[in-house]
Amino acid sequence: MTFSPGRVVRAHIQPVSSYSRGVSPEPSSAAIRLDWNESPFELSPKAQAVYDRFRAGNRYPDFDQQRLIEALASYIGTSPDRVIAGAGLDDVFTTTALTIIDAGDDVIISDPTFGIYRSLFALHGARIVNVPLGPAPDFTLPVDGIVGAITERTKLIMICNPNNPTGTLYDKAEIESIIQQASCLVAIDEAYAEFSGVAHLDLANRYPNVILYRTMSKFAGLAGYRVGYGIFPHSIMPWAKRATPAFCNLSAISAAVAVASLQDLDHLMTNVRALVEERERLVHELRCIDGVEIYPSSANFVLIALPVPDAGRIVSTLAEQQIFVRRFADPALGLANCVRVSVGSRRENDTFLSRFADTLSRAPVP
Ligand SMILES: Cc1ncc(COP(=O)(O)O)c(C=O)c1O
Repeated sequence: MTFSPGRVVRAHIQPVSSYSRGVSPEPSSAAIRLDWNESPFELSPKAQAVYDRFRAGNRYPDFDQQRLIEALASYIGTSPDRVIAGAGLDDVFTTTALTIIDAGDDVIISDPTFGIYRSLFALHGARIVNVPLGPAPDFTLPVDGIVGAITERTKLIMICNPNNPTGTLYDKAEIESIIQQASCLVAIDEAYAEFSGVAHLDLANRYPNVILYRTMSKFAGLAGYRVGYGIFPHSIMPWAKRATPAFCNLSAISAAVAVASLQDLDHLMTNVRALVEERERLVHELRCIDGVEIYPSSANFVLIALPVPDAGRIVSTLAEQQIFVRRFADPALGLANCVRVSVGSRRENDTFLSRFADTLSRAPVP
């Protein structure tokens, strides 16, 4: 008998390309990692104390992660019976896909946006329908285009607000207009909501077809612990719960650290305010560099258009100096000349600014 992997691997995943996160820095204390929109802040004091005391790794976590779900619900101001948690938001997208996607269903996205939507929903057999955002610098939400693209096969519309990688915050009335005209689910990914100060729980409360996605990775600095969650319509919850993995895929220590972080909100919000201030300073300093264009951002990162057709050389020159920023090489995204830079600590931002200006000044003028 000969074994052929092509016979066992699901046909629809064979053409799907995997999500690429760009150059990965070796973990090193010297590296300035501004490529993944992480927080520069370590655990809050209460979370650190829980981490230091944690001894229960030989025990399985709470099966339903009820304590964590209650803490998340109370933070958001909703009822625990609408919250689905997972090992990062990506895991909650998987739960969503397992709940609603049959092979051949449509998911509408608007590129340039968070790349995981495309790769993850395609893995579940969805056809990705891209209705692109308007051109830079406004990157407007194509409301009519999205509504016009809805068919009987459309299960989900993904709206990333603020949008990664552009940083754009969409007008609430435009999001609401899509929700009102959609016969499918509309998900608002609010991974960066704490930085924009804008969140749309009221839309999820008023309309029966809205999912909100949130994460502890960004504002709470728990990217490595992997804690994300969604607020789902009541009508979908029984099935979404069925699709949720045991323990919500969350380790006991991640859940404990997340609960303790939510008891330290004053501390976390002080960090958020500091990052927003740093973002404004970074933008101000970047505007003093000749030839670059900075797009308005409501998140913890900024997208910068460079005066070269392709940002690749600049990104690799910075990486050689242990400074990591993100590029978007796929020409279909129209951002080949851009870099996305997370807002780091003041020291990190200062080092980035001086090396970036220096690298740009040495780049050959096209
Ligand atoms: C818009 C958006 N949604 C979701 C995520 C994933 O978050 P998590 O770390 O919770 O999986 C990210 C991470 O960069 C993101 O930018």
